[in-house]
Amino acid sequence: MRRLLVLGLFATILLIGCRGRQSEAPPIHPHLSMDFQEKFGAQDYNPFFEDGAAMRKPPTGTVARGYLRQNSELHEGRLSNGEYVEQIPIAVNRQVLERGQDQYNVYCAPCHGKSGNGNGVIMRGDYGYTPASSYHVERLRQVTDGYMYDVIKNGVRNMPPYAQQIPVRDRWAIVAYIRALQRSQNARPENLPESVVTRLEEETGATLRSAGDTTTATVASGTE
Ligand code: HEC
Repeated sequence: MRRLLVLGLFATILLIGCRGRQSEAPPIHPHLSMDFQEKFGAQDYNPFFEDGAAMRKPPTGTVARGYLRQNSELHEGRLSNGEYVEQIPIAVNRQVLERGQDQYNVYCAPCHGKSGNGNGVIMRGDYGYTPASSYHVERLRQVTDGYMYDVIKNGVRNMPPYAQQIPVRDRWAIVAYIRALQRSQNARPENLPESVVTRLEEETGATLRSAGDTTTATVASGTE
């Protein structure tokens, strides 16, 4: 009987202990270790330094980890003599092109249009923007990849720069995708796989290749 009573009492104490009462007081901290130390907050005054600021400036020329940008071809799109690189300095594969397409559609298509003809959704409204360029003009087909990269990074005339929004490799991926867009509007029969040429010839009734010589063939729709 007595044992039952003790047990009951014990259970009651336990239950009361479990009520989950909330408290603002810090938990009991039997071993302080180094948990509580004096320290300076970001904007605190510190008499140790002449300017009294606790927060110190990093020495001039300090570069944050991962931000050393010595490769001017990659980061600036320029050779060491300052000229634009002719070609994209990263390996271009399907994955890069798809990334380029994705980022192009986010950042460039609103003005330049999904097919790059300068007819993006912003340009179709009456918002008073300077018209965005079409990529399908001879001059922009001829510019170097480095120049395209520079336009994305630094902007051009009325187009704002996108360096803040688009990281380096994505800029190159976008350049690769613009090249694909340009090719899409200006393809020659010899750029197409044999099966596609055959299909197009069947569908349109046009002759895309003259006997034995594909280089002189012209596309019937007049894009060449
Ligand atoms: C806010 C609208 C806008 C966006 C977004 C935009 N552009 Fe432009 N872009 C323009 C305008 C406007 C021009 C023409 C500027 C001028 O002639 O003053 C232009 C011109 C260009 C040119 C031609 C430069 C030349 O030498 O004539 C290229 C290439 C270009 N943009 C690429 C891009 C790429 C790549 C992106 C996406 C990263 C992009 N633009 C995003 C508005 C835009």
